[in-house]
Amino acid sequence: MRNGYLSQAAERRLMLFSGRGYPELAEKIADRLDIHLGEVELRQFANGEMYARYLESIRGSDVFIVQSLCDPVNQNLMELLIMIDAAKRASAANIVAVIPWYAYSRQDRKTKPREPITARLVANMIQTAGADRVMTMDLHVGQIEGFFNFPVDHLTAMHTFVDYYIDQGFKGAGDAVVVAPDTGEVKQAKLLADHLGLPWAILSKTRRGPGESEITHVIGEVEGRRAILIDDIIATGGTLCNAAERLIREGATEIYAAATHGEFSGSAYERLEESVIREIVVTDTLPLKADRPTSKIRTLTIAPILANTIRNVFLGESVSAVFMGENQLF
Ligand code: R5P
Repeated sequence: MRNGYLSQAAERRLMLFSGRGYPELAEKIADRLDIHLGEVELRQFANGEMYARYLESIRGSDVFIVQSLCDPVNQNLMELLIMIDAAKRASAANIVAVIPWYAYSRQDRKTKPREPITARLVANMIQTAGADRVMTMDLHVGQIEGFFNFPVDHLTAMHTFVDYYIDQGFKGAGDAVVVAPDTGEVKQAKLLADHLGLPWAILSKTRRGPGESEITHVIGEVEGRRAILIDDIIATGGTLCNAAERLIREGATEIYAAATHGEFSGSAYERLEESVIREIVVTDTLPLKADRPTSKIRTLTIAPILANTIRNVFLGESVSAVFMGENQLF
């Protein structure tokens, strides 16, 4: 009798909570896991300070907090931090910060004197708040994983894009090419090209300033081909629009684009709508903004990937198995 009680008491609980960054994504993950989102009170005082309180006991639980660091970035980051702090103080056994879009990831190193390394600062804050691990997707650069002193589960949307373009008939197409819009995306472009049985090409990009870029060289055969540009982030849309125009000048016939994180800042929606790109595929690591032109944008959900990874982490099973070993950072 006593043993039965103890073994029951020792059962682990998975609890999933959402910040206010992108609760619709957290709902989709909960549906996939066949659980309800946990109840948490989140609010902001009149002076701008934020507050979080779990409305049920989380003692001894494995708590997964889903928060995409979308707009308003700093508010969502702060909310994540105080949710982690509240979970720690409420005696959660393990706290996993599920951050599909890791904001500040492009500030991963100093490129000029007297700059911060904000991606590292964000990592420090998440650790100091009390998280035990982080789950994130298609990080801008691999070194961010090393900014944490605990496990980082790195997920990728690559297979979601592969499946999509296979469905669209690109596999082995004799008239298609995968293109990296800058040298940072060469490995991703090569991986997508390998999965689709296509050749690949590289554009060399020079930044003139924040949000301003120029294509200086095209390496590879693009003439007469339909090009799929693959990037990790779409911010102002400048990279993709410039790349697409250059590819058309080089003789490419149609331009498609895919990126994991559709940040769409500034006038990106309008710019992409007016561009020569036929279709832009992004995932739902970030929400699309309402009342903006999105007729060319198609969103693929990564909720199943997040749900499978959360399940495997909770059960102590392999995460790389979810991605057939192809979720390594470059
Ligand atoms: C840069 O290195 C990234 O991979 C993206 O190409 C970049 O963040 C896209 O930004 P934008 O849309 O503003 O050109």
